[in-house]
Amino acid sequence: MVKLLRTKNDLPEQTRAEVVKLLNQRLAEAVDLQTQCKQAHWNVKGETFIALHELFDKVNEDVEEYVDLIAERAVQLGGMVEGTVRMVAKRSVLPEYGAQGESSREHVEALSNALAAFGKLMRMGIDAADALKDANTADIFTEISRGVDKWLWMVEAHLPPAH
Ligand SMILES: [Fe+2]
Repeated sequence: MVKLLRTKNDLPEQTRAEVVKLLNQRLAEAVDLQTQCKQAHWNVKGETFIALHELFDKVNEDVEEYVDLIAERAVQLGGMVEGTVRMVAKRSVLPEYGAQGESSREHVEALSNALAAFGKLMRMGIDAADALKDANTADIFTEISRGVDKWLWMVEAHLPPAH
């Protein structure tokens, strides 16, 4: 069981322990996603370079906020955040970033895949937080999920219409 620090938060200790575990899991994937946004931002090239370079950084900025929201919720519940690169790399279940080349098409595919996979994990997080009866964590996950769905639209809108 997760070690908890003292807090006056009235959620039951068992609930807080389970939710902190869930938060550290989703945190790992959020940090993973953030590095993938930067990977896309740095490596993309092509005719639409500046649009995608800037779009990918905007996604990164929002994902950075998601990381903070998730990590600070864990602390609020008396948990310890496990957020170093080594910790998150070991824990994240998000697939590795899919683009090895430079083409804008490849990066749009890779980042939309990452956003879709992360979106699915966030929806699972909402259900898990609901089941644990922590409405505030479910609300944080819902807010993040809404943002991820928006960014998925913005990124995959660059794919050809027939796709
Ligand atoms: Fe930059």
